[in-house]
Amino acid sequence: METDKYIAPNGDVFVHRLKDLTDEEKERLELQNSRMISEAKAAKLEREAKRHWDIFYKRNETKFFRDRHWTTREFQELINFDPEQQIIFLELGCGVGNMVFPLLEEGFSNFYFYACDFSPRAIEFVKSNKLYDDSRIKAFCADLTTDDLFDNINENTADIASLIFVLSAINPTMWSQVAKVAFRALKPGGVLLFRDYGRYDMAQLRFKPGHKIADNYYMRQDGTRTYYYTEEELADIFSKAGFEILSNTYVQRRTVNFKEGVDVPRIFVQGKYKKPHGIGSE
Ligand SMILES: C[S@@+](CC[C@H](N)C(=O)[O-])C[C@H]1O[C@@H](n2cnc3c(N)ncnc32)[C@H](O)[C@@H]1O
Repeated sequence: METDKYIAPNGDVFVHRLKDLTDEEKERLELQNSRMISEAKAAKLEREAKRHWDIFYKRNETKFFRDRHWTTREFQELINFDPEQQIIFLELGCGVGNMVFPLLEEGFSNFYFYACDFSPRAIEFVKSNKLYDDSRIKAFCADLTTDDLFDNINENTADIASLIFVLSAINPTMWSQVAKVAFRALKPGGVLLFRDYGRYDMAQLRFKPGHKIADNYYMRQDGTRTYYYTEEELADIFSKAGFEILSNTYVQRRTVNFKEGVDVPRIFVQGKYKKPHGIGSE
């Protein structure tokens, strides 16, 4: 983004500035250090990561994450694709399909979708969705920290891939591996769409002592984990994996629920990363 601040038509505010903390917020973050997760417990959480997400989907079924509706215009703004050309879209860590199904519903008839997640239960929910149609989408299990993905999709295949609120759920030691998997799956010239939690988002500030695993990395009550990124960290991860950074910013957004009378400011990070031409088979 060329300017310091850009307001998207949907109200997302894109900025390059890390949120300033109030003294009270600094104290809250400091208090989180008073009781950290032990190394043994952190190792157990890592071993049981898949199980925790699978239980998450058993408990919440398809009701937890909101559908990520991209109007055709917004999506076109994100990715300049040719409406006549066949586009292969790969959703990495699709959960129950909150991104692919709205796209399927909105048309995108020139798209073929691949959707994967390491939770078998999430993939079952995708497959049992009434919009699931074998001729337009293939859902399968894959752990993004391994080479599983390539059992179902060849390297250099996807025109667009997405990682939406997924990397933050993965152990920081594995981020570079996940970025490389995304890179390998994309065609040269293909683009990775990224959105995740940003540093000092209100959800980070709300963690009580007993949840912090490491700096900016936490365990939720249900055993799933989450990290809060700076834009510099993301630029580093994806450029080291070989991507060209097209955009990479904080996104400030107000989540308003009139019924419950809540209006909370959220901070996300959003990026578009391109696999350069001249790499892989063209
Ligand atoms: C916060 S949810 C987001 C789901 C979906 N992208 C969305 O936006 O609604 C994180 C997802 O990442 C998946 N996940 C976590 N670690 C993974 C891994 N190593 N490989 C594949 N999927 C993983 C979880 O099962 C979960 O579905």
